[in-house]
Amino acid sequence: MSERRESPVRVALLGCGTVGSEVARLLLNGADELAARVGAPVELAGIAVRRPDKHPELPQQLLTADAGELVESDVDIVVELIGGIEPVRGWLLTALRQGKSVVTGNKALLAEHGGELSAAANESGADLYYEASVAGAIPLLRPLRESLAGDRITRVMGIVNGTTNFILSAMDSTGASYAETLEEATRLGYAEADPSADVEGYDAASKAAILASLAFHTRVTAAEVYREGIVGINASDIAAAKRLNRTVKLLAICERVTADDGTESVSARVHPVMIPRTHQLAGVGGAFNAVYVEAEAAGELMFYGQGAGGAPTASAVLGDLVAAARNRVAGGRGPRESAHAALPVRPMGQTPTRYHISLDVADRPGVLAQVAQVFAVHGVSIAAVRQRDERSTASLVVVTHLAPDAALEATVDEVSELDVVREVVSVMRVEGEDS
Ligand code: HSE
Repeated sequence: MSERRESPVRVALLGCGTVGSEVARLLLNGADELAARVGAPVELAGIAVRRPDKHPELPQQLLTADAGELVESDVDIVVELIGGIEPVRGWLLTALRQGKSVVTGNKALLAEHGGELSAAANESGADLYYEASVAGAIPLLRPLRESLAGDRITRVMGIVNGTTNFILSAMDSTGASYAETLEEATRLGYAEADPSADVEGYDAASKAAILASLAFHTRVTAAEVYREGIVGINASDIAAAKRLNRTVKLLAICERVTADDGTESVSARVHPVMIPRTHQLAGVGGAFNAVYVEAEAAGELMFYGQGAGGAPTASAVLGDLVAAARNRVAGGRGPRESAHAALPVRPMGQTPTRYHISLDVADRPGVLAQVAQVFAVHGVSIAAVRQRDERSTASLVVVTHLAPDAALEATVDEVSELDVVREVVSVMRVEGEDS
């Protein structure tokens, strides 16, 4: 028989919404199994909710409206599933300073105040775990922090927002406009009533900050992540991608960039990109998430699964909770994250990217030369040009090699001013093929 610690590991749960209620259910129904895995009973000591009278399904003696008091009570681990910055930040700092471990799914808080929370955890010797904050059920942060701790990660790139992936997948399959597709996604419950955090890329930017911080041992905040959402994507962008056998995805891209003089920096960005339909991320449809990790020794790794929802996200929370509880039973703490590399974050303008530009131009001699001249002036090398004729207009598609993003943006601005250019139909960054 395995040895058991008699005193229970006491857990405070803050928040009982979609994920919290699933966590409470698993904790209450699976107590014996959890005790066996942890080596001590895991006891749900209290649940803080805004309106205790609205939760008849939960044991009433556990409910409280006073989250601050619950945090300060005799508990070992605080599980936070409320979200937002204040007052949650204060409660979690209090918990960590008192040596209580924290499990949270609060990406916005971590992307803004991760350094402060991590410092508090390090000082008191508590655990700070947040697997549920990025890509729901997918085990991703622990592999970055622990399994790959001896490797050198060069890139983390993926689909980390299910709402926008659902919308882009639907636009791709139906050819419908962004507005129509968003309306349908809201009706089906895939998009929130206020979808701005998802469609404007804030949710993905917070996740990119968390991923870049762990991957590159560097503290990156959400404000340092370049962000473009999918609000500006229209049916002509999707159609332009389709004509080239590509599709459009909103990607979070975190890279270690080495300059010619050998100095290193980190690039973290979220924006729509065209990728080939043969790319593995192109096949990730609907509300699923998928993340590529590239490391020097490990090579390419891919993580795929459900990135949201009550039960999948609760799985990540319970995994963290069991890890933190086991550490308590063993009398220590788990592996901590490190930010020792402290690499600078490279501004988007200096980040090497590639563009796909689709133009409607006059169809007469010298037009291609004029367009190409603008690229040359900005030092942007062209990788491919394709022309399609329609009466007096020609559709010109230009795909570039890698160039600093600012040079590409300036090129597009100047090209759009040319008399021979009737319309800039689509401008999109390109990923997933040789530069
Ligand atoms: N709103 C997120 C999404 C899920 O659409 O993927 C929570 O991170």
